[in-house]
Amino acid sequence: MKCSAPIVLAAIPAVGAFETYPDCPTLVGDVTVKAADIFPESAEFALSNCKFYIGSLNNGSLIEHDPYTSVTREIKLPEVSHNEDYFICGVDFSYASGTIYVAASARYPWWPTIGANLTGPNRIIQYSPITDSIVWSANIDDVISAEVEKTGSPFAGFQDMAEDRDGNAYFIGTFGNIIVKVDPKGQATKFYTPEPVNDKSYGFGGLFVTLDNVLVLGDGVSDGFVRFDLSSSTPARPSFTTPKGHPEDFEEILECDSLTAPRRYNDKVALCSNVLDRKFSKHGMITVYTSDDGWTTSEFVGMIVNDFGQWPDVWSTAQFATADRVYALSSSLPYDDSGFPHTKSTTLVDITDRVDKLVPKFVPADAQHAHEEL
Ligand SMILES: *[C@@H]1O[C@H](CO)[C@@H](O)[C@H](O)[C@H]1NC(C)=O
Ligand SMILES: *[C@@H]1O[C@H](CO)[C@@H](O)[C@H](O)[C@H]1NC(C)=O
Repeated sequence: MKCSAPIVLAAIPAVGAFETYPDCPTLVGDVTVKAADIFPESAEFALSNCKFYIGSLNNGSLIEHDPYTSVTREIKLPEVSHNEDYFICGVDFSYASGTIYVAASARYPWWPTIGANLTGPNRIIQYSPITDSIVWSANIDDVISAEVEKTGSPFAGFQDMAEDRDGNAYFIGTFGNIIVKVDPKGQATKFYTPEPVNDKSYGFGGLFVTLDNVLVLGDGVSDGFVRFDLSSSTPARPSFTTPKGHPEDFEEILECDSLTAPRRYNDKVALCSNVLDRKFSKHGMITVYTSDDGWTTSEFVGMIVNDFGQWPDVWSTAQFATADRVYALSSSLPYDDSGFPHTKSTTLVDITDRVDKLVPKFVPADAQHAHEEL
């Protein structure tokens, strides 16, 4: 198999701090990022330097925001920024290396019609907040072409990733449900494809890795969670489980734009951004799940509708966490009309209290005290 080498631009960061980071200064409440036309699709908080990183979908860049000084700047991604072949989709903080991973997905699988044209280039990029440098940019197209040839199925929609404790990234293709594994040096290989191959419908939409090194994905094809125990002797063999407790008229089960398990709840709570289901709310919602057994079984416990007050055309395509809070990105994106809306700012909405109310059993004891004292 032909294999393109990643373009390595800076020293590969050491892998280590999976469990802990020194505390960032306290941060509570909404954060407004004043930058025009971000078109944000995903965001993260880097515990390694206490700054937010927001993917600028249509501009192909990363926007850095320091919530303590309100300084915002654009980080350009080589060959990707302001290149119309790409959309910046997922942004992820890797606990193992303290770095930020960015999914530069081909634009056409998403635009102008979702799932219609499953072609185009895809890259995954590692950025180090500590050294302010692009570590590498890995083109995964040779890995994908080989799989397309082997299976006859298209694989596209590379919109998100999660990283394990050894610093490997798992990069998902939503159409075809492929997982590409990218090692800490940026070398990509196939990790998983379904057997038999899936149809072209919307499958893996978001993922996270637990502290126990279990990879958990939200899957719109099997309507459930897919789980890979990365430390087992068969790391690439999945198990499938459907959460209990959805309302009867609920259709788009785990059809997520992103899936996250905030550290606040010790991997026992997952949030799925369900942008496409308009039955319960005009602008979609965030569905909330809990698990007490490492996502072997799980339960739907409720939803947070997107009524964040930034109407019209504001969705929440991603949720993400600081060490102790939970945020929802408010995303002004052209889901229903044809153009990109002009915006002056983007709000990161603090939804911690709303999530806490749905999962009282999993709220950390010290946070419960803080609630009582208020
Ligand atoms: C995005 O690109 C547009 C057009 O080039 C520019 O006006 C805008 O300032 C950019 N926004 C950000 C946040 O980089
Ligand atoms: C599909 O996308 C490719 C770019 O990846 C483009 O060259 C081609 O024209 C598109 N096809 C259609 C039918 O729009």
